[in-house]
Amino acid sequence: MKRELAAAARDLAAYVKSLDENLAEPPCGAAVAPRPAKTRAASPLPPPAGEPAVPQMTKKPADMDSLAEQVKACRKCGLGHARLNAVFGVGSYKAKVVFVGEGPGFQEDHKGEPFVGRSGQLLDKILETVLGLKRSDVYIANIVKCHPMKNPETPEAHGNDRPPTPEEISACRPYLDEQLRAIRPACIVTLGSVATKVLLGIDKGISTVRGRAYDYPVELFGPGHPIKVIPTYHPAALLRNPNLKRDTWEDMKMLKSFLETGKL
Ligand code: URA
Repeated sequence: MKRELAAAARDLAAYVKSLDENLAEPPCGAAVAPRPAKTRAASPLPPPAGEPAVPQMTKKPADMDSLAEQVKACRKCGLGHARLNAVFGVGSYKAKVVFVGEGPGFQEDHKGEPFVGRSGQLLDKILETVLGLKRSDVYIANIVKCHPMKNPETPEAHGNDRPPTPEEISACRPYLDEQLRAIRPACIVTLGSVATKVLLGIDKGISTVRGRAYDYPVELFGPGHPIKVIPTYHPAALLRNPNLKRDTWEDMKMLKSFLETGKL
């Protein structure tokens, strides 16, 4: 018992040290190779009159590529008109676990990939140190696929991020469920309060909700086959408050044990 405790303490210390190591300043501006500007809509206009606020999946996509094309073409809310690139998702389509954040920021908008800024580097480190996984072993996506900006006229400006509105969230939500249907993960990890509230349909902050697993309330695979949901802190919260690293470590240990044993 003493030995197990000592080993756990060593693990935790190694994890905290690894997360403390400097994160490289992510490349930005000209250093990031932005995707061709053709993906940018002509102007940041609101959705055309008469279009439904919530997109209907009229055609079930044959695969993720066609869903990604739908997302690229989506103009169901204002975000689709302002963003540089749609940020669909990244990773393995056979992943057992899907990590879900809130929405793309500046770096993600430029690269067209989720979690590529400082939060993303921290997420990569957590995956590696606690789970022994790379981002290509899991799947990473967001609640909204386009960058919510305070000023949609200036997508090149830093400090222009804002949380998605309830309308933007409900417009984008069907895409995530389609991604989950295609991947069929055993587990979703919600990163932060926004993703947790949206996916669990609750109105409690992450600090009260984390520490245990839930059943995903949407029955994507029929009754009796729930996807498990493990809520944890958003990596950006760990950057602001390093004291949260320990709780995140515990949540990731729970995930590791679930991935190894199928039990929670
Ligand atoms: N924060 C998020 O919630 N998602 C990203 O992709 C990047 C930062």
